[in-house]
Amino acid sequence: MSNIEQTLSIIKPDAVERDLQDQIKQEFADKGFEIIKEKKIHISKEEAEKFYKVHESKPFYNDLCAYLSSGPIVVMKLQRENAVIENRKLMGATNPADAEEGTLRKKYGISIDKNSVHGSDSLENAKIELEFFFNN
Ligand code: CMP
Repeated sequence: MSNIEQTLSIIKPDAVERDLQDQIKQEFADKGFEIIKEKKIHISKEEAEKFYKVHESKPFYNDLCAYLSSGPIVVMKLQRENAVIENRKLMGATNPADAEEGTLRKKYGISIDKNSVHGSDSLENAKIELEFFFNN
């Protein structure tokens, strides 16, 4: 039985700055993801704080929000079978140092902050995050 899902992916400032967005989009296409919607935007610190509100109590919250708003990002609505988990597999561990060979964070990530991509961690959060950037 098919389980088509949609999830949110963000190509973060470190990757956009290095002009990696086309390469990363190709990686998604190669793994069967369809990019349903995408836009390149530069969000404010206040918007980043709203987006990452779930991390509000974490010691890295301020730096994280400053970072996501530090330059242009590419936000994408991705679709495929089991999109949430498959995107997380393709991204690899949060810290590029711990990420497996072949994953996006291993290939492109620089540090735990500059880890090149964000992806929704559950179907529930995917809905919330897609609503945040695309209003659906
Ligand atoms: P992301 O998947 O975008 O979700 C929250 C981000 O916080 C995470 O990627 C990391 O880039 C960043 N971050 C910074 N420090 C930490 C940490 N100690 N643990 C988890 N995430 C961290």
